[in-house]
Amino acid sequence: MAWMAAEVEPDAMDLFGNPARQEVPLPARRESARTARQLTCRVLMQQWYAGDHVTDDVVLLVSELVTNVLQHTGVRVFGLRLRRHNEFLGVEVRDPSRGLPCLMPLAELADEGWGLYMVDRLADRWGVDLLPRGKTVWFEMRIRPAPGQP
Ligand SMILES: Nc1ncnc2c1ncn2[C@@H]1O[C@H](COP(=O)(O)OP(=O)(O)O)[C@@H](O)[C@H]1O
Ligand SMILES: [Mg+2]
Repeated sequence: MAWMAAEVEPDAMDLFGNPARQEVPLPARRESARTARQLTCRVLMQQWYAGDHVTDDVVLLVSELVTNVLQHTGVRVFGLRLRRHNEFLGVEVRDPSRGLPCLMPLAELADEGWGLYMVDRLADRWGVDLLPRGKTVWFEMRIRPAPGQP
């Protein structure tokens, strides 16, 4: 039950910060996928009044990008940043590894490769920015505020 979880579980935003204000550093551990989902859900629903549908999609894609950091890099820390420009929102997952994500051809998708396929299908734009130390994997999505919200 959500109210019970809220009572026993420390608030992710109190512990880690608000990724809509500045990049939040998270340890590259399995629990961080959940933390990143919680932070994203909270910002979209409570601060940006995004609808349920787009929030579901964004949380799913955040989970995939964070899982990729955990599975495909050996880093210890990564960063989550959420941005909003008018009706667009942007998600950035930065890690200090320069290994690059690779969108697999559809014909080769089997047990692996679905994460970026979903990013490619659900996001309006996505890409990778190579940095002097590491890279940022990002995507953008159009959002419409829930009815009755600013
Ligand atoms: N953050 C990342 N750093 C380095 N390589 C990555 C990263 N994200 C994805 N990749 C590479 O891109 C491939 C495709 O990612 P994805 O579509 O999520 O499939 P999967 O994670 O199931 O392999 C991965 O197998 C990996 O080689
Ligand atoms: Mg993946």
